[in-house]
Amino acid sequence: MSMTSRRGLLARSAGAVALTLAPSSCAATVNTPRERALIAADGRVDWDALRAQFRLERGWVNLALFYLASHPEAVRDAVDHLRAQADANPLSVPTGMALPDGPTGWPRVRESLAAYMGGRAEDIAMTASTSIGLGVVYNGVVTRPGQEFLLTEHDHVSHRTAARLAAEKHGNKVRQVSWFSDPATATADGIAAAVGEVIRPNTRVVGITWVQSSTGLRMPVRAVAEVVRRANEGRSPADRCLLVVDGVHGLAAVDEDAAGLGADVVIAGTHKWLFGPRGTGLIWVAPDVLEQLRPTFVSFISGAAAAPLSPGGFLAFEHAFALPVAVALHEQLGRARVATRITQLSTRVKQGLSRIRGVTVHTPADPELSAGITCFSVAGHTHQQVVDHAAADNVRLSTSTFTRIGTAVINTPAEIDTALNSLADLTG
Ligand SMILES: Cc1ncc(COP(=O)(O)O)c(C=O)c1O
Repeated sequence: MSMTSRRGLLARSAGAVALTLAPSSCAATVNTPRERALIAADGRVDWDALRAQFRLERGWVNLALFYLASHPEAVRDAVDHLRAQADANPLSVPTGMALPDGPTGWPRVRESLAAYMGGRAEDIAMTASTSIGLGVVYNGVVTRPGQEFLLTEHDHVSHRTAARLAAEKHGNKVRQVSWFSDPATATADGIAAAVGEVIRPNTRVVGITWVQSSTGLRMPVRAVAEVVRRANEGRSPADRCLLVVDGVHGLAAVDEDAAGLGADVVIAGTHKWLFGPRGTGLIWVAPDVLEQLRPTFVSFISGAAAAPLSPGGFLAFEHAFALPVAVALHEQLGRARVATRITQLSTRVKQGLSRIRGVTVHTPADPELSAGITCFSVAGHTHQQVVDHAAADNVRLSTSTFTRIGTAVINTPAEIDTALNSLADLTG
């Protein structure tokens, strides 16, 4: 079946899920998608109807929704539905559970993800988070002592720590380099050239982040993959340099097939932009590098290819097996429409911030080099002071290296303006 027709099928089943799930006893019942269509007759998404699915605290502007998903109603209902089955008959897990529209389990979860992100279901391993996925991958890469992993300070602590812990165990090194001196002025060509310059014959992994949560910069993964491909010419499989991508802030924020970026491995939590159940994530492995990765844990997912990489044991199956509902919701919204909405909102953020005195935006203005996270500083104020000031105005921001505004599809232009006004007040 072609990618397009698989997508169509999933989108139709998304509608079916939204229509047939029984409302949970505690779910909000007004303005839910069952009464209010998410897609209007003219094909546009009714973003307010989507927003009505979430139980976000009223009276607050939340611009940190990329941190951990608030469950939309469709996901809450699916989790409730599955929990009831697990509680009634724990023996029904992990093979006998069903969503209202049919059986669910690992095969359905992996097939729905493959239809959404490209690639084959068998090349997807399941994890409970990005961090666990990163640990599985760095521990699992077959290395020789003396080989190195290349990362930067801008990669998440989970990524850097996974690489360090694995390197310490296996006699490898982590070399921390830089792809740019200033994220705001970085270019795709400059980043790709920087990667090309630092790869050495003993480089086993180039670890990058699709969208950096520390800078908001979106890495030009395809261009980097091409540089890595050239560096691999003439190398044996054991010497091959693998491109490992922490994809968590690109998946469901950028309109690209994560499995088609040219990376060897993509790891992503599905509990952030995808609005998947909390405690869910994936590892996609290119078929031609599967042999370069060894499992670390027993897997409870049967099958070959990437399945054995999935950390096993009994898990929160009511969450794991509800993931196809979140994917279906995104299929219904449309990946391109979601990405466009996120870009529109983050562009509004960047333009507004650049008009506020004393504010420096660190994320590139170019939508091709950014996504839904905008990082900035305010002269004379620490990042925590900026977050605290915004919180006093009931605006939730977050910090890592810089202060961050995250724009999810369910945020609104008015919310962004509220945040910008609060920041303008801070600087006077
Ligand atoms: C870039 C990046 N990678 C990894 C993580 C860890 O994600 P998880 O909570 O899924 O382990 C985060 C956390 O937000 C992140 O920003």
